[in-house]
Amino acid sequence: MEKIIIKGRERLHGSIAVSGAKNAALPIMTASLLTREKTLIHNIPDLRDVRTISDLLRIFGARVEDRGNGTFEIDGSSVHHHEAPYELVKTMRASCMVLGPLLARLGRAKVSLPGGCAIGERPINLHLKGLETLGAKIKLEHGYVIAEADRLKGGRIYFDIPTVTGTMNIMMAAVLAEGDTLLENAAKEPEIADLADMLRKMGAKIEGDGADTISITGVTSLHGVEHTIIPDRIETGTFIIAAAITGGEVKITNCIPDHSESLIMKLRESGLEIKPGKTTILIKGNGKIEGVDVETSPYPGFPTDMQAQIMSLLCIAKGTSIITETVFENRFMHVSELRRMGADIRIRGQSATVRGVGGLSGAPLMATDLRASASLLLAALAAEGESVISRVYHIDRGYERIEEKLSKLGANIRRVR
Ligand code: EPZ
Repeated sequence: MEKIIIKGRERLHGSIAVSGAKNAALPIMTASLLTREKTLIHNIPDLRDVRTISDLLRIFGARVEDRGNGTFEIDGSSVHHHEAPYELVKTMRASCMVLGPLLARLGRAKVSLPGGCAIGERPINLHLKGLETLGAKIKLEHGYVIAEADRLKGGRIYFDIPTVTGTMNIMMAAVLAEGDTLLENAAKEPEIADLADMLRKMGAKIEGDGADTISITGVTSLHGVEHTIIPDRIETGTFIIAAAITGGEVKITNCIPDHSESLIMKLRESGLEIKPGKTTILIKGNGKIEGVDVETSPYPGFPTDMQAQIMSLLCIAKGTSIITETVFENRFMHVSELRRMGADIRIRGQSATVRGVGGLSGAPLMATDLRASASLLLAALAAEGESVISRVYHIDRGYERIEEKLSKLGANIRRVR
Protein backbone atom coordinates (compact mmCIF):
# COMPACT_ATOMS: atom_id res chain seq x y z
CA MET A 1 0.00 0.00 0.00
CA GLU A 2 1.49 3.34 -0.98
CA LYS A 3 1.32 6.43 1.19
CA ILE A 4 2.19 10.09 0.65
CA ILE A 5 4.02 11.85 3.49
CA ILE A 6 3.96 15.64 3.71
CA LYS A 7 5.66 18.04 6.13
CA GLY A 8 3.56 21.19 5.91
CA ARG A 9 4.09 24.95 5.94
CA GLU A 10 6.54 25.16 3.06
CA ARG A 11 5.65 28.16 0.84
CA LEU A 12 5.43 26.89 -2.73
CA HIS A 13 7.32 28.80 -5.42
CA GLY A 14 8.34 28.35 -9.05
CA SER A 15 6.37 27.26 -12.09
CA ILE A 16 4.48 24.11 -12.98
CA ALA A 17 3.01 22.85 -16.27
CA VAL A 18 -0.49 21.34 -16.28
CA SER A 19 -1.08 17.92 -17.87
CA GLY A 20 -3.80 16.98 -20.35
CA ALA A 21 -7.39 16.82 -19.07
CA LYS A 22 -8.44 13.40 -17.72
CA ASN A 23 -12.13 14.10 -18.48
CA ALA A 24 -11.33 14.96 -22.09
CA ALA A 25 -8.83 12.11 -22.64
CA LEU A 26 -11.30 9.38 -21.60
CA PRO A 27 -14.12 10.26 -24.06
CA ILE A 28 -11.66 11.21 -26.82
CA MET A 29 -9.87 7.86 -26.60
CA THR A 30 -13.28 6.16 -26.61
CA ALA A 31 -14.26 8.07 -29.77
CA SER A 32 -11.50 6.21 -31.62
CA LEU A 33 -13.99 3.29 -31.74
CA LEU A 34 -16.02 5.31 -34.27
CA THR A 35 -13.58 4.90 -37.16
CA ARG A 36 -11.79 2.01 -38.87
CA GLU A 37 -8.84 4.31 -39.41
CA LYS A 38 -6.08 5.33 -36.98
CA THR A 39 -6.34 8.11 -34.43
CA LEU A 40 -3.25 9.84 -33.04
CA ILE A 41 -3.89 11.61 -29.73
CA HIS A 42 -1.39 13.90 -27.95
CA ASN A 43 -1.14 15.31 -24.41
CA ILE A 44 -2.81 12.30 -22.78
CA PRO A 45 -2.04 12.34 -19.02
CA ASP A 46 -0.31 9.33 -17.43
CA LEU A 47 -3.16 8.23 -15.12
CA ARG A 48 -4.71 5.01 -13.87
CA ASP A 49 -7.97 5.80 -15.65
CA VAL A 50 -6.15 6.20 -18.99
CA ARG A 51 -4.65 2.74 -18.51
CA THR A 52 -8.12 1.39 -17.72
CA ILE A 53 -9.75 2.84 -20.85
CA SER A 54 -6.80 1.52 -22.92
CA ASP A 55 -7.43 -1.99 -21.56
CA LEU A 56 -11.12 -1.64 -22.35
CA LEU A 57 -10.46 -0.56 -25.95
CA ARG A 58 -8.12 -3.54 -26.38
CA ILE A 59 -10.87 -5.87 -25.17
CA PHE A 60 -13.06 -4.55 -28.01
CA GLY A 61 -10.27 -5.40 -30.47
CA ALA A 62 -8.66 -1.99 -30.95
CA ARG A 63 -4.87 -1.74 -31.06
CA VAL A 64 -3.78 0.87 -28.49
CA GLU A 65 -0.13 1.92 -28.59
CA ASP A 66 1.35 4.22 -25.95
CA ARG A 67 4.04 6.01 -27.94
CA GLY A 68 5.31 7.78 -24.80
CA ASN A 69 5.33 11.51 -24.05
CA GLY A 70 1.53 11.53 -23.81
CA THR A 71 0.96 10.34 -27.39
CA PHE A 72 -1.23 7.33 -28.11
CA GLU A 73 -1.98 5.74 -31.48
CA ILE A 74 -5.26 3.83 -31.60
CA ASP A 75 -6.23 1.60 -34.54
CA GLY A 76 -9.92 0.76 -34.47
CA SER A 77 -9.93 -1.24 -37.74
CA SER A 78 -10.47 -4.62 -36.07
CA VAL A 79 -12.98 -3.60 -33.39
CA HIS A 80 -15.44 -6.50 -33.19
CA HIS A 81 -16.16 -7.30 -29.54
CA HIS A 82 -18.99 -5.41 -27.84
CA GLU A 83 -18.78 -6.36 -24.16
CA ALA A 84 -17.28 -4.24 -21.34
CA PRO A 85 -16.70 -6.55 -18.33
CA TYR A 86 -17.70 -5.77 -14.74
CA GLU A 87 -14.09 -6.14 -13.48
CA LEU A 88 -13.01 -3.12 -15.54
CA VAL A 89 -16.18 -1.01 -15.42
CA LYS A 90 -16.36 -1.21 -11.60
CA THR A 91 -12.96 0.51 -11.40
CA MET A 92 -13.98 3.40 -13.65
CA ARG A 93 -17.53 4.66 -14.13
CA ALA A 94 -16.57 6.60 -17.25
CA SER A 95 -16.48 3.21 -19.02
CA CYS A 96 -20.25 3.68 -19.56
CA MET A 97 -19.28 6.11 -22.35
CA VAL A 98 -18.44 3.15 -24.60
CA LEU A 99 -22.18 2.46 -25.01
CA GLY A 100 -22.69 5.17 -27.65
CA PRO A 101 -19.65 4.37 -29.80
CA LEU A 102 -20.18 0.57 -29.67
CA LEU A 103 -23.83 0.98 -30.70
CA ALA A 104 -22.84 3.34 -33.51
CA ARG A 105 -20.04 1.08 -34.73
CA LEU A 106 -21.27 -2.48 -34.09
CA GLY A 107 -25.02 -2.02 -33.52
CA ARG A 108 -24.77 -3.62 -30.10
CA ALA A 109 -23.16 -3.16 -26.69
CA LYS A 110 -23.09 -5.03 -23.40
CA VAL A 111 -21.69 -2.87 -20.60
CA SER A 112 -21.71 -3.63 -16.89
CA LEU A 113 -23.85 -1.10 -15.04
CA PRO A 114 -21.42 1.15 -13.16
CA GLY A 115 -22.15 0.87 -9.45
CA GLY A 116 -22.42 3.96 -7.30
CA CYS A 117 -19.28 5.48 -5.93
CA ALA A 118 -18.15 7.37 -2.85
CA ILE A 119 -19.64 10.69 -3.98
CA GLY A 120 -23.08 9.47 -4.95
CA GLU A 121 -25.39 6.94 -6.58
CA ARG A 122 -24.56 8.30 -10.06
CA PRO A 123 -27.21 6.56 -12.19
CA ILE A 124 -26.97 6.52 -15.99
CA ASN A 125 -30.72 6.67 -16.67
CA LEU A 126 -30.32 9.81 -18.80
CA HIS A 127 -27.68 8.08 -20.95
CA LEU A 128 -30.03 5.14 -21.55
CA LYS A 129 -33.09 7.32 -22.22
CA GLY A 130 -31.06 9.26 -24.80
CA LEU A 131 -29.89 6.11 -26.56
CA GLU A 132 -33.47 4.77 -26.65
CA THR A 133 -34.56 8.03 -28.29
CA LEU A 134 -31.98 7.25 -30.98
CA GLY A 135 -33.68 3.90 -31.54
CA ALA A 136 -31.62 1.57 -29.33
CA LYS A 137 -33.41 -1.35 -27.64
CA ILE A 138 -32.12 -1.48 -24.07
CA LYS A 139 -32.55 -4.08 -21.34
CA LEU A 140 -30.87 -4.59 -17.97
CA GLU A 141 -29.84 -8.15 -17.16
CA HIS A 142 -27.59 -9.52 -14.41
CA GLY A 143 -26.08 -6.08 -13.77
CA TYR A 144 -25.38 -5.43 -17.43
CA VAL A 145 -26.85 -2.93 -19.88
CA ILE A 146 -27.61 -4.79 -23.10
CA ALA A 147 -28.25 -2.42 -26.02
CA GLU A 148 -29.02 -3.15 -29.67
CA ALA A 149 -29.79 -1.01 -32.73
CA ASP A 150 -29.61 -1.95 -36.42
CA ARG A 151 -29.05 1.67 -37.36
CA LEU A 152 -29.40 4.53 -34.88
CA LYS A 153 -31.81 7.26 -36.01
CA GLY A 154 -31.52 10.92 -35.08
CA GLY A 155 -33.94 12.26 -32.47
CA ARG A 156 -34.68 15.08 -30.03
CA ILE A 157 -33.30 14.56 -26.52
CA TYR A 158 -33.86 16.76 -23.47
CA PHE A 159 -31.56 16.08 -20.48
CA ASP A 160 -33.37 16.61 -17.15
CA ILE A 161 -29.88 17.24 -15.73
CA PRO A 162 -26.98 18.52 -17.90
CA THR A 163 -25.00 15.28 -17.57
CA VAL A 164 -21.37 15.54 -18.74
CA THR A 165 -20.68 11.93 -19.75
CA GLY A 166 -24.32 11.57 -20.81
CA THR A 167 -23.86 14.42 -23.31
CA MET A 168 -20.63 12.82 -24.54
CA ASN A 169 -22.19 9.35 -24.83
CA ILE A 170 -25.12 10.59 -26.92
CA MET A 171 -22.91 12.82 -29.07
CA MET A 172 -20.74 9.82 -29.97
CA ALA A 173 -23.83 7.77 -30.86
CA ALA A 174 -25.55 10.53 -32.86
CA VAL A 175 -22.62 11.39 -35.15
CA LEU A 176 -23.17 8.12 -37.06
CA ALA A 177 -26.97 7.98 -36.69
CA GLU A 178 -29.30 8.52 -39.66
CA GLY A 179 -30.65 12.07 -39.71
CA ASP A 180 -30.55 14.94 -37.26
CA THR A 181 -30.21 14.88 -33.47
CA LEU A 182 -30.93 17.74 -31.09
CA LEU A 183 -29.45 17.59 -27.54
CA GLU A 184 -31.23 20.07 -25.28
CA ASN A 185 -30.06 21.11 -21.82
CA ALA A 186 -26.70 19.59 -22.77
CA ALA A 187 -23.67 19.94 -20.48
CA LYS A 188 -21.31 22.80 -21.46
CA GLU A 189 -17.99 21.67 -19.94
CA PRO A 190 -14.85 22.47 -22.04
CA GLU A 191 -14.15 18.72 -22.29
CA ILE A 192 -17.34 18.39 -24.35
CA ALA A 193 -16.14 21.03 -26.81
CA ASP A 194 -12.77 19.25 -27.00
CA LEU A 195 -14.51 15.96 -27.90
CA ALA A 196 -16.69 17.78 -30.46
CA ASP A 197 -13.57 19.37 -32.01
CA MET A 198 -12.05 15.94 -32.47
CA LEU A 199 -15.27 14.46 -33.91
CA ARG A 200 -15.55 17.39 -36.37
CA LYS A 201 -11.98 16.72 -37.52
CA MET A 202 -13.10 13.11 -38.10
CA GLY A 203 -15.86 14.38 -40.41
CA ALA A 204 -18.76 14.65 -37.95
CA LYS A 205 -21.33 17.45 -38.29
CA ILE A 206 -21.78 19.01 -34.84
CA GLU A 207 -22.77 22.53 -33.81
CA GLY A 208 -23.58 24.22 -30.52
CA ASP A 209 -21.22 22.29 -28.24
CA GLY A 210 -20.43 24.47 -25.22
CA ALA A 211 -23.96 25.92 -25.30
CA ASP A 212 -27.32 24.55 -24.08
CA THR A 213 -28.34 22.95 -27.35
CA ILE A 214 -26.13 20.77 -29.53
CA SER A 215 -27.28 19.83 -33.05
CA ILE A 216 -25.78 16.90 -34.90
CA THR A 217 -26.35 15.68 -38.47
CA GLY A 218 -25.42 12.01 -38.79
CA VAL A 219 -22.87 10.90 -41.41
CA THR A 220 -22.20 7.40 -42.75
CA SER A 221 -18.58 7.11 -41.62
CA LEU A 222 -15.77 8.98 -39.85
CA HIS A 223 -12.08 9.06 -40.81
CA GLY A 224 -8.89 8.98 -38.77
CA VAL A 225 -7.63 12.06 -36.96
CA GLU A 226 -4.76 13.63 -35.02
CA HIS A 227 -5.82 15.55 -31.92
CA THR A 228 -4.26 17.21 -28.86
CA ILE A 229 -6.12 17.08 -25.54
CA ILE A 230 -6.85 20.38 -23.73
CA PRO A 231 -5.09 21.06 -20.39
CA ASP A 232 -6.79 19.85 -17.20
CA ARG A 233 -8.75 22.71 -15.59
CA ILE A 234 -9.19 20.78 -12.33
CA GLU A 235 -5.47 20.10 -11.98
CA THR A 236 -4.99 23.82 -12.77
CA GLY A 237 -7.42 24.72 -9.97
CA THR A 238 -5.77 22.32 -7.57
CA PHE A 239 -2.36 23.94 -8.10
CA ILE A 240 -3.88 27.43 -7.72
CA ILE A 241 -5.18 26.39 -4.31
CA ALA A 242 -1.81 24.80 -3.43
CA ALA A 243 -0.14 28.17 -4.01
CA ALA A 244 -2.82 30.06 -2.09
CA ILE A 245 -2.96 27.71 0.91
CA THR A 246 0.82 27.86 1.43
CA GLY A 247 1.03 31.64 0.83
CA GLY A 248 3.48 30.94 -1.98
CA GLU A 249 4.10 32.51 -5.41
CA VAL A 250 3.52 30.07 -8.27
CA LYS A 251 3.19 30.37 -12.04
CA ILE A 252 1.02 27.73 -13.68
CA THR A 253 1.88 27.19 -17.35
CA ASN A 254 0.30 25.32 -20.28
CA CYS A 255 -3.23 26.02 -19.02
CA ILE A 256 -6.37 27.76 -20.36
CA PRO A 257 -7.31 30.42 -17.74
CA ASP A 258 -10.79 30.88 -19.28
CA HIS A 259 -11.67 27.32 -18.23
CA SER A 260 -11.03 28.28 -14.59
CA GLU A 261 -12.93 31.59 -14.68
CA SER A 262 -15.45 30.82 -11.90
CA LEU A 263 -12.69 29.59 -9.56
CA ILE A 264 -10.50 32.63 -10.31
CA MET A 265 -13.41 35.04 -9.64
CA LYS A 266 -14.24 33.28 -6.35
CA LEU A 267 -10.62 33.32 -5.17
CA ARG A 268 -10.31 37.02 -6.05
CA GLU A 269 -13.43 37.59 -3.91
CA SER A 270 -11.55 35.95 -1.03
CA GLY A 271 -8.62 38.34 -1.49
CA LEU A 272 -6.16 36.20 -3.45
CA GLU A 273 -3.92 38.00 -5.95
CA ILE A 274 -4.24 36.01 -9.18
CA LYS A 275 -3.12 37.08 -12.65
CA PRO A 276 -4.24 35.08 -15.69
CA GLY A 277 -2.14 35.34 -18.88
CA LYS A 278 -2.82 33.71 -22.27
CA THR A 279 -1.71 30.20 -21.25
CA THR A 280 -0.46 30.94 -17.72
CA ILE A 281 -1.83 31.92 -14.30
CA LEU A 282 0.33 33.70 -11.69
CA ILE A 283 -0.73 33.32 -8.04
CA LYS A 284 0.74 35.51 -5.29
CA GLY A 285 -0.42 33.95 -2.05
CA ASN A 286 -0.45 36.50 0.74
CA GLY A 287 -1.73 34.41 3.62
CA LYS A 288 -4.71 36.77 4.00
CA ILE A 289 -7.69 34.77 2.70
CA GLU A 290 -11.20 35.93 3.67
CA GLY A 291 -14.05 33.47 3.98
CA VAL A 292 -16.44 33.35 0.98
CA ASP A 293 -19.62 31.42 0.13
CA VAL A 294 -19.38 28.82 -2.64
CA GLU A 295 -22.14 26.97 -4.48
CA THR A 296 -21.22 24.32 -7.05
CA SER A 297 -23.12 24.08 -10.33
CA PRO A 298 -22.61 22.76 -13.86
CA TYR A 299 -20.11 24.63 -16.09
CA PRO A 300 -19.59 27.59 -16.30
CA GLY A 301 -20.56 27.63 -12.60
CA PHE A 302 -18.17 26.74 -9.78
CA PRO A 303 -17.01 23.16 -10.51
CA THR A 304 -18.07 20.42 -8.12
CA ASP A 305 -14.63 18.89 -8.79
CA MET A 306 -13.05 21.91 -7.04
CA GLN A 307 -15.38 21.94 -4.01
CA ALA A 308 -13.21 19.77 -1.74
CA GLN A 309 -10.08 21.69 -2.68
CA ILE A 310 -11.43 25.17 -1.97
CA MET A 311 -12.85 23.89 1.32
CA SER A 312 -9.31 23.11 2.49
CA LEU A 313 -8.30 26.70 1.74
CA LEU A 314 -11.34 28.14 3.49
CA CYS A 315 -10.57 26.10 6.63
CA ILE A 316 -7.76 28.60 7.34
CA ALA A 317 -9.46 31.72 5.94
CA LYS A 318 -10.46 34.66 8.14
CA GLY A 319 -14.17 34.40 8.88
CA THR A 320 -16.87 31.93 7.91
CA SER A 321 -17.70 30.32 4.54
CA ILE A 322 -20.77 28.36 3.49
CA ILE A 323 -20.11 25.72 0.83
CA THR A 324 -23.14 24.21 -0.93
CA GLU A 325 -22.76 21.11 -3.10
CA THR A 326 -25.63 20.94 -5.61
CA VAL A 327 -24.31 18.34 -8.11
CA PHE A 328 -23.60 15.20 -6.05
CA GLU A 329 -25.43 13.97 -2.96
CA ASN A 330 -22.45 12.78 -0.94
CA ARG A 331 -19.44 14.89 -1.75
CA PHE A 332 -18.35 15.90 1.78
CA MET A 333 -16.27 12.77 2.52
CA HIS A 334 -13.21 14.98 3.06
CA VAL A 335 -14.88 16.90 5.93
CA SER A 336 -14.30 14.33 8.68
CA GLU A 337 -10.63 14.04 7.72
CA LEU A 338 -10.20 17.84 7.66
CA ARG A 339 -11.78 17.99 11.14
CA ARG A 340 -9.09 15.62 12.38
CA MET A 341 -6.57 18.29 11.32
CA GLY A 342 -8.35 20.88 13.44
CA ALA A 343 -10.82 22.30 10.90
CA ASP A 344 -14.14 23.69 12.22
CA ILE A 345 -16.80 22.46 9.76
CA ARG A 346 -20.48 21.79 10.34
CA ILE A 347 -22.60 19.98 7.73
CA ARG A 348 -26.34 20.56 7.33
CA GLY A 349 -27.76 18.69 4.33
CA GLN A 350 -25.96 19.86 1.19
CA SER A 351 -24.24 22.78 2.93
CA ALA A 352 -21.06 22.88 4.99
CA THR A 353 -20.35 25.86 7.29
CA VAL A 354 -16.58 26.36 7.53
CA ARG A 355 -15.31 28.61 10.31
CA GLY A 356 -11.71 29.67 9.61
CA VAL A 357 -9.19 28.51 12.23
CA GLY A 358 -5.69 29.84 12.86
CA GLY A 359 -4.04 26.80 11.34
CA LEU A 360 -4.28 23.04 10.78
CA SER A 361 -2.14 20.28 12.25
CA GLY A 362 -0.74 17.33 10.34
CA ALA A 363 -2.33 13.90 10.96
CA PRO A 364 -2.62 10.38 9.51
CA LEU A 365 -5.33 10.75 6.80
CA MET A 366 -7.42 8.41 4.65
CA ALA A 367 -8.27 9.28 1.03
CA THR A 368 -11.80 8.27 -0.03
CA ASP A 369 -12.25 9.59 -3.56
CA LEU A 370 -10.23 11.48 -6.14
CA ARG A 371 -10.95 15.10 -5.26
CA ALA A 372 -11.34 14.47 -1.53
CA SER A 373 -7.78 13.11 -1.52
CA ALA A 374 -6.60 16.24 -3.34
CA SER A 375 -8.18 18.37 -0.60
CA LEU A 376 -6.39 16.39 2.13
CA LEU A 377 -3.10 16.83 0.30
CA LEU A 378 -3.69 20.60 0.08
CA ALA A 379 -4.58 20.83 3.77
CA ALA A 380 -1.43 18.84 4.63
CA LEU A 381 0.70 21.34 2.67
CA ALA A 382 -0.54 24.11 4.99
CA ALA A 383 -0.61 22.08 8.22
CA GLU A 384 1.90 22.23 11.08
CA GLY A 385 3.89 19.00 11.21
CA GLU A 386 3.64 15.76 9.28
CA SER A 387 0.65 14.18 7.51
CA VAL A 388 0.52 10.64 6.14
CA ILE A 389 -2.14 10.06 3.45
CA SER A 390 -3.07 6.43 2.69
CA ARG A 391 -5.10 4.93 -0.20
CA VAL A 392 -3.28 7.30 -2.56
CA TYR A 393 -4.48 5.26 -5.55
CA HIS A 394 -7.46 7.62 -5.46
CA ILE A 395 -5.11 10.54 -6.17
CA ASP A 396 -3.36 8.73 -9.00
CA ARG A 397 -6.67 8.44 -10.86
CA GLY A 398 -6.69 12.14 -11.63
CA TYR A 399 -3.24 13.60 -10.98
CA GLU A 400 -0.09 12.72 -12.88
CA ARG A 401 2.85 12.20 -10.45
CA ILE A 402 1.48 14.87 -8.12
CA GLU A 403 4.22 14.48 -5.50
CA GLU A 404 6.90 15.13 -8.16
CA LYS A 405 5.12 18.29 -9.33
CA LEU A 406 4.61 19.61 -5.81
CA SER A 407 8.16 18.85 -4.65
CA LYS A 408 9.37 20.74 -7.74
CA LEU A 409 7.50 23.72 -6.23
CA GLY A 410 9.32 23.27 -2.91
CA ALA A 411 6.84 21.09 -1.00
CA ASN A 412 8.29 18.63 1.50
CA ILE A 413 6.43 15.62 0.07
CA ARG A 414 7.34 12.02 -0.74
CA ARG A 415 5.63 8.77 -1.71
CA VAL A 416 6.52 5.62 0.22
CA ARG A 417 5.58 2.08 -0.65
C1 EPZ B 1 -18.42 13.92 -14.96
O1 EPZ B 1 -19.06 12.86 -14.29
C2 EPZ B 1 -16.98 13.90 -14.47
N1 EPZ B 1 -16.37 12.63 -14.83
C3 EPZ B 1 -16.94 14.10 -12.95
O2 EPZ B 1 -15.58 14.19 -12.58
C4 EPZ B 1 -17.62 15.42 -12.60
O3 EPZ B 1 -17.66 15.55 -11.20
C5 EPZ B 1 -19.04 15.42 -13.16
O4 EPZ B 1 -19.00 15.17 -14.59
C6 EPZ B 1 -19.75 16.75 -12.93
O5 EPZ B 1 -19.01 17.78 -13.50
C7 EPZ B 1 -15.94 12.45 -16.11
O6 EPZ B 1 -16.08 13.31 -16.95
C8 EPZ B 1 -15.28 11.14 -16.40
P1 EPZ B 1 -22.85 13.98 -14.50
P2 EPZ B 1 -20.54 12.40 -14.77
O7 EPZ B 1 -23.49 12.92 -15.34
O8 EPZ B 1 -20.71 12.66 -16.22
C9 EPZ B 1 -26.82 12.92 -12.17
C10 EPZ B 1 -13.70 13.71 -11.36
O9 EPZ B 1 -13.43 14.02 -10.20
N2 EPZ B 1 -27.11 12.00 -13.28
O10 EPZ B 1 -22.65 15.34 -15.09
O11 EPZ B 1 -20.79 11.05 -14.24
C11 EPZ B 1 -25.61 12.47 -11.36
O12 EPZ B 1 -26.00 11.52 -10.38
C12 EPZ B 1 -15.05 13.18 -11.70
O13 EPZ B 1 -12.92 13.83 -12.35
C13 EPZ B 1 -28.32 11.31 -13.29
O14 EPZ B 1 -29.14 11.44 -12.38
O15 EPZ B 1 -21.45 13.45 -13.98
C14 EPZ B 1 -25.12 13.77 -10.76
O16 EPZ B 1 -25.87 14.04 -9.59
C15 EPZ B 1 -15.88 12.96 -10.46
N3 EPZ B 1 -28.58 10.46 -14.32
C16 EPZ B 1 -25.46 14.81 -11.83
O17 EPZ B 1 -26.42 14.18 -12.69
C17 EPZ B 1 -27.69 10.29 -15.37
O18 EPZ B 1 -28.01 9.51 -16.31
C18 EPZ B 1 -24.28 15.23 -12.68
O19 EPZ B 1 -23.66 14.05 -13.13
C19 EPZ B 1 -26.48 11.00 -15.34
C20 EPZ B 1 -26.22 11.86 -14.29
